[in-house]
Parts: sequence; structure tokens; C-alpha cells
Amino acid sequence: MYNPFSLIGKTILVTGASSGIGRATAVECSKMGAKLILTGRNEDRLQQTLHLLEGDDHLLFSCDLAQEDDIKVFCAQLPNNIDGIAHCAGISSLKPIIGLNTQNLQDIFCTNYYAPVLLTKYLVKSKKLQQGASLVYVGSISGISNVATALSAYGSSKSALNSFVQYAALELAGKHIRCNAVLPGRIETSLLQNQTMSEEDLQKDIAKYPLHRYGTPTEVAQAIVYLLSDATRWITGTSITIDGGRSLI
Ligand SMILES: NC(=O)c1ccc[n+]([C@@H]2O[C@H](COP(=O)([O-])OP(=O)(O)OC[C@H]3O[C@@H](n4cnc5c(N)ncnc54)[C@H](OP(=O)(O)O)[C@@H]3O)[C@@H](O)[C@H]2O)c1
Repeated sequence: MYNPFSLIGKTILVTGASSGIGRATAVECSKMGAKLILTGRNEDRLQQTLHLLEGDDHLLFSCDLAQEDDIKVFCAQLPNNIDGIAHCAGISSLKPIIGLNTQNLQDIFCTNYYAPVLLTKYLVKSKKLQQGASLVYVGSISGISNVATALSAYGSSKSALNSFVQYAALELAGKHIRCNAVLPGRIETSLLQNQTMSEEDLQKDIAKYPLHRYGTPTEVAQAIVYLLSDATRWITGTSITIDGGRSLI
């Protein structure tokens, strides 16, 4: 049956696959026929993701992407026929500006910015990506427009990532590699649950979403599938906002 969004025959690497958006992305990609390479730090949770996938023949590697040496070792183990990457690994941190220090800035930038940038570098350098590969980076509306207090480090790391996506799209176009981003609003994952918010503040925040709810990991995953598929083979250097209309107000 004709399906322009099919991922049959494609090998897709998903970072942050042990949880939330990364896990949902791996599941949705497997439903579309892809062979998956899963990575994260927590091997038990990666195994749980593996059990949720359709099909077999998937691969799993644990790797701390905040460590450049780990990225190098990880890349060396990968097959050289990768058709797509979903860069989902990320961390958040709620800290007012006066509470910031070099260590927490480094932590957040290492995972949210350096890791996807260096992973891109080493995969391109070691020729692990197929011609026509699609790289999808998970940014955030916090990096573009949804400015909030205590999120300056997180938001800045996502702004930097969004900027990188545009530069990478231009630089890698000659290799027929596409780079795009998805920019979610608040999504119900552990990242959100880890943030302490009173029930009253939560309801006030949800009220700012024109579609009256937060998003689900699957809703982000399906946009990632779209960007990984051949249906978007002429789309590069752009981003899709997935936020129930939050950026409109
Ligand atoms: N949830 C939201 O509201 C929201 C909104 C906008 C954007 N985002 C973005 O969406 C992405 C996924 O977030 P999520 O909500 O799905 O969060 P999550 O459920 O907490 O998942 C985060 C994932 O990142 C991985 N990770 C973190 N640090 C890592 C490291 N040093 N090395 C390797 N893997 C690492 C974790 O793996 P381990 O647990 O195995 O270490 C986990 O699989 C992030 O980039 C986040 O910024 C989320």
C-alpha cells in the first residue's frame, strides 16, 4: 500500500530512547517499519523500550552522551548505513540566574547542545550516514519564544541547538543530509514530572495552552517520523512547533 511516511528499509538511531519522547519515537519508528538503534544511559529502561518495539533485529547501546570519549566509542560501534537520527536525549533544570554556576551550565550544555553537535560530527566524519539521511533534533519552544523565569540555561541550550540545526542543514546539504528540528511545548514525560510545580500553578500553566492540555510523547514522535520519512526529502533547515498553540499567545 502507498505510504509516503513509511520507514521500511531505514535504520534509525534514537538517542534518549530509554524514556519519554525518545522511547515513543523508537516505538513509532518501529511501527513504520524501521530498524532501530537505541541509546541512553540506563540499560534496564533501554531494554524496556526494546520490548515495546515492533519487529526484531534492533540494536541497543548504552552511552553517556555528555562524555565526548563515550560518543567516539559509541560511533565506532555503529553500522555505516544509518538513514536517520532522532536526537531526543536532553535534560532540564529550573534555576534562577543568580543560582547558575559554571558546573550547571556545563551540565546542561553538554547534554542538550554539545552531545547532538558532537554526535553529528563523529557520525559524519566516520561516514556512518547514508546519502539522503535525515537528522532530527528535539529542541523546545523555550529556545525560541516561550521565555519563562528560571529556565534561562535550558532555553539558551535549546536556542543554540536550533541555530546549529540551520548551520548543519546548510553545511551538510552537499552530502544530501537533511537537518530539521521539532520544538515541543510541555509534554507529559518524566522531564516534566521532575519539575516541582504546585497543582494550582500546573492548572494555570495548562490554561495557557489554546488546546487546553499538554502534549504526549507520541504526538512529538509522529512529527519526528514525518521528518525522518521520504515525504520530507526536500525539507531541511526548518523546525516544526508542536505545542497545542502555546506559542500563539
Ligand atoms: N517533556 C517536555 O515537556 C519537553 C518539552 C520540550 C522539549 N523537550 C525535550 O525533549 C527531549 C526528551 O525529553 P523527555 O521529556 O522525553 O525527557 P525524559 O523522559 O527525561 O528523557 C530524557 C532522555 O535523555 C537521556 N539522557 C539524558 N542525559 C543523557 C546523557 N548524558 N547521555 C545519554 N542520554 C541521556 C535519558 O537517558 P537515561 O535516562 O538512560 O540517562 C532519557 O532517555 C529533551 O531534549 C527535552 O529537552 C521536552
